[in-house]
Order: sequence, then C-alpha cells, then structure tokens
Amino acid sequence: MKGKFITFEGCEGAGKSTQIRFLSAYLGERNIPHIVTREPGGSDISEAIRKVILDGRFTAMTDECEALLYAAARVQHLADTVAPALEAGKTVLCDRYLFSSFAYQGYGRGLSRKFLQEINSYAIGHFMPDIALFLDIPPARAFERKHGADRDDRIEQAGAEFHRRVYEGYCRLTEEYPETIVRVDCSGTKFETKDKIARLLRERGLIG
Ligand code: TYD
Repeated sequence: MKGKFITFEGCEGAGKSTQIRFLSAYLGERNIPHIVTREPGGSDISEAIRKVILDGRFTAMTDECEALLYAAARVQHLADTVAPALEAGKTVLCDRYLFSSFAYQGYGRGLSRKFLQEINSYAIGHFMPDIALFLDIPPARAFERKHGADRDDRIEQAGAEFHRRVYEGYCRLTEEYPETIVRVDCSGTKFETKDKIARLLRERGLIG
C-alpha cells in the first residue's frame, strides 16, 4: 500500500463527517493528494447496495444478510475506489470501514466475530487501515446533537439499547486492536477534536 489509509469510526452523530471535512481541508492546504469516501457506498455499485441495506421498508432483513451486504459493498468499494487511490499514493479518508461491522453487526446484532472475520477476510484481503479513529461520544449525547434518529434509516431506528451495545463494542475493540484503533475524546468542541486528530496523525507520521 503506497498511500495512507485512515478510517473514521464511531456512533451515529459522533461528528465523523465534520472531522473528515476538516482533515480533508488540512490535507488540501498542504497539497497532500487524498480522497474522501464512505461505507457503505463510495462507488456506484456500493452506493446501490447501501440503498438496499438502509431502506427503512426492509424490516425483515436477517442479520446475516445485512452483514453480507456490508461486506459486499466493502469489496466493491475497495476495488473501485480505495485500492486504486492507495496504489496511486493518495491518502484515503474513509467514513466507516471494517470495525463498523464488528461494532454494529457483532456487538449490536450479536453475530459472531468468527463469522464477521471470515466474510470480511474475503472483502478486505490485506487492506487493513493504517489507523481507525474512534470518535468517542456516548450515543445518548450523539443523538441529542443529531436531534434524534432518521425515521427512514433502518439502522438508526434500531433503538437506544442497540446503539449502547455498539458504543460499548467500540470501547472493547479499542482494547483489542490497540495498534490500529485510536480513541479520540470528542467531548470538547469540534475544533478541539480537529486539533487532536491532526496532532495524533502527525505524531504517527500519517500526515505531513
Ligand atoms: P450513515 O448514514 O452513513 O451513518 P453515519 O453518518 O452514522 O455514518 O449510515 C451508515 C450506517 O451503516 C450506520 O448506521 C452504521 C451502519 N454500518 C454498519 O452497521 N456496518 C458496517 O459495516 C458499516 C460500514 C456501516
């Protein structure tokens, strides 16, 4: 992998998209070639899969189907968008990736890690992120910031207890993958969080 692969993780409303925008601007000012992308989505086919996954009408979707669709969106997104950018030496800023599946489908839905690891090993091959930034804000606070859940979004409708498990899952994953997942305390202002992120990426030699 020639470019750096930076992923953003966390609960709904943690401020991932704002921080990705800030970081993209920071890289832009320094002429560091990069792309911004997201999961599920980030390529034509994966955006189409995203619509199916999140469609509020599909309440009968099984947890396994959901996990496989995320993995399917991931493999296509890697092939179409992420791998070519990394090969070209670009930094990739990705809103969610592998650890979202472990947190949501694993801790949230209760699917086994073994199953998730197996299907995702087909999806990601050797493409592990250089760093996964876990934007840490407890889900109750995050929902307040977001002014509640989106009624048309199947995952956001999953309930407070589900989102609490996802949050706790992220906390455990941070301990399980200390080399890759870094917790960023987001209790301050968005500008304080922005500075924290820039500092820790610089310290790790991931941005100029
Ligand atoms: P999105 O609207 O992008 O949410 P957010 O702005 O919080 O990132 O929708 C993505 C949803 O998909 C979000 O609820 C998290 C969920 N998700 C999973 O459950 N598993 C996954 O592997 C990924 C990538 C996302």
